[in-house]
Amino acid sequence: MNVIKDIKSKALPKHVAIIMDGNGRWAKKKGMLRTFGHENGAKAVKQVVEASAELGIENLTLYAFSTENWKRPKLEVQTLMKLLVSSLKKEIKTLQDNNIKLSAIGNLKSLPTKVYNELFDVINTTKTNNRMTLTLALSYGSREELLNTVKEISIKVKNNIISPEKIDESIINEHLYTQNLPDVDLLIRTSGEKRISNFLLWQIAYAELYFTNTLWPDFTKQHLYESIIEYQKRERRFGKTSEQLS
Ligand code: IPE
Ligand code: IPE
Ligand code: MG
Repeated sequence: MNVIKDIKSKALPKHVAIIMDGNGRWAKKKGMLRTFGHENGAKAVKQVVEASAELGIENLTLYAFSTENWKRPKLEVQTLMKLLVSSLKKEIKTLQDNNIKLSAIGNLKSLPTKVYNELFDVINTTKTNNRMTLTLALSYGSREELLNTVKEISIKVKNNIISPEKIDESIINEHLYTQNLPDVDLLIRTSGEKRISNFLLWQIAYAELYFTNTLWPDFTKQHLYESIIEYQKRERRFGKTSEQLS
């Protein structure tokens, strides 16, 4: 496919993060229950994971469940958790076939035991894979992550492991859940909402933002290609002037 060749010939984002939004609205439009939307959202995940690996993207991070999503109706939360377990079970082959390593960020201890165990089972099975790292943000909230970071660093200061003058950006990075990941280059949000919803606040400082009206279950490989083509047209100046870049 020519579009893949075109994309590969230019600089790829090293880290793509996606706020997968719109499952509920997608189902509602079809007169179905919200959970039907989540089921179909899982199919879109598979598409995007495969397409990212094929393109050569090194890091893909997916916002699957936020700390705030615990406030949803109990039945919806339960269905989402069940869907997570079944998707992890089902997709382990996709991860192995594509040499993808699974990782997770968030307050993972708050997940139901079944989800936690299945998650770490897949993380362990795929730990030596090295084509792409797929990170699931589960029970993830950026403010909670930053709070944790502050607490951990404070304890180290208190125990004379770190001196306050030495605290810099790299020390903060090392204490975030995303410690092994580079900054986000491209942040995609589906469903037309233009907000961040507590996702990777520190890590998206210089990310290119891409918003699309497509609802997550309708998001295909083609949509991912479009977002990367748009990304490749942007000039990332990081505070410098355009002239300084050339
Ligand atoms: C995203 O779709 C999935 C999760 C947040 C778990 P939503 O469930 O938020 O769908 P909308 O936004 O209500 O359409
Ligand atoms: C953000 O979507 C969280 C995930 C996609 C997992 P939400 O649907 O929860 O976000 P808000 O509440 O509309 O901002
Ligand atoms: Mg939503």
